[in-house]
Amino acid sequence: PAPTCIKIRDGKEHRGKRVKIRGWVHRLRRQGKNMMFIVLRDGSGYLQSVLTDQLCQTYEAIILNTESTVTLYGMLQEVPEGKEAPGGHELQVDYWELVGESPAGGAEAEINQLSNPDVQLDKRHLMIRGENCSKVLRLRSILMKAFVDHYTDRGYEWISPPTLVQTQCEGGSTLFDFNFFGEKAYLTQSSQLYLETCIPSFGDVFCIEQSYRAEQSRTRRHLASYTHVEAECPFISFDDLLDRIEDLVCDVVDRVLKHPVGGELMKDLHPEFVAPTRPFLRMPYKDAIQYLKDNGITKEDGTLYEFGEDIPEMPERKMTDKIGRPILLNRFPAGIKAFYMSRCVGEIVGGSMRMHDYQELMDAYKANELDAKPYYWYTDQRRYGTSPHGGYGLGLERFLCWIANRYHIREATLYPRFVGRCTP
Ligand code: 4AD
Repeated sequence: PAPTCIKIRDGKEHRGKRVKIRGWVHRLRRQGKNMMFIVLRDGSGYLQSVLTDQLCQTYEAIILNTESTVTLYGMLQEVPEGKEAPGGHELQVDYWELVGESPAGGAEAEINQLSNPDVQLDKRHLMIRGENCSKVLRLRSILMKAFVDHYTDRGYEWISPPTLVQTQCEGGSTLFDFNFFGEKAYLTQSSQLYLETCIPSFGDVFCIEQSYRAEQSRTRRHLASYTHVEAECPFISFDDLLDRIEDLVCDVVDRVLKHPVGGELMKDLHPEFVAPTRPFLRMPYKDAIQYLKDNGITKEDGTLYEFGEDIPEMPERKMTDKIGRPILLNRFPAGIKAFYMSRCVGEIVGGSMRMHDYQELMDAYKANELDAKPYYWYTDQRRYGTSPHGGYGLGLERFLCWIANRYHIREATLYPRFVGRCTP
């Protein structure tokens, strides 16, 4: 009978049986003429496989390279104690087929961890087959599920707002505009305004969408397109908002660590990671400015940060590193943040209570020199049954960099987009 086609991750259940497995040659080692070792990769795991005698001597065997696609058949055998093999077993191949060839030298002839960073990005489609990249991206998948589970368990409705819009949310300087059938439109900076329109229908809501920022600077925490986890909640207070952010961060971390694969990946990628505990440090903006002064954290030219100025990345990082636990910076002075709010921000999450008074919002449009007309649907929220409400946005890639200890945000996304890079 034809053997069952299995996934590598299910190997344990099929030990001692003849199986069929399809995948890519992850590693290849030839030993003399009569022995070949393949580490097979099928996306669910890695499997050591042994080919002997005439199986190694065919034309296909001679042209075989890493990244070739193959189908292997054979007995799945437990390996003796002391012999290293992923999963604790190996495949004694008795028949195999070449499905897809790969150029001589395989992918590593073109690209590896030591290649120039720009070349690595050009060849990211090959880099993601490597163990390092795929670990981070697999953790990302587990992390996204943890966010969805967090919200749905707490009764939030999952919303899909539009990403092609005609209004701005976070200031004109980072807007990407484009021609939408002859009209000017933008790639969304945040789904917040749309989520706000959903709370009278659904109560607590969340979304996970792409947001776009025409960021001119190439920093290790800015992308031009990033995955934005956002939530909006009616009838909460500012303290409730901070509580919810803490709950989100701690619960999502907990879910990732408890996930069987997530926990393993975390041990591997960030062995020193310590899960944050509640409550976080809640620091008013004015105290943060004082903290910077007291601790000699200055601007590049040596001058001090003064009340009324935004706290940029460098001093924020120094402060969080020094304090060593999550900080919820809050009570920012009006004027340094967007038009709709009074807010708390940080490197990973930005949130605020929203203006729910009609007149206050109209005044804010004016103060920010925004034409209120295209925002009529947002304004209507304040005309038809307004309510106090608040929400926040969290950068998925920044969160992933934090938990997985990645230095650069580009590592946390499949195909990063930033100034000068829109390919592959
Ligand atoms: O602080 P931001 O700009 O806030 C907003 O967009 C609000 N409308 C969100 C809301 O309240 N619903 O962005 C929120 C978060 C930041 O804390 C950061 O994690 C991430 O989005 N972020 C970026 N991540 C990667 N690259 C960029 N260029 C980012 N800009 C913001």
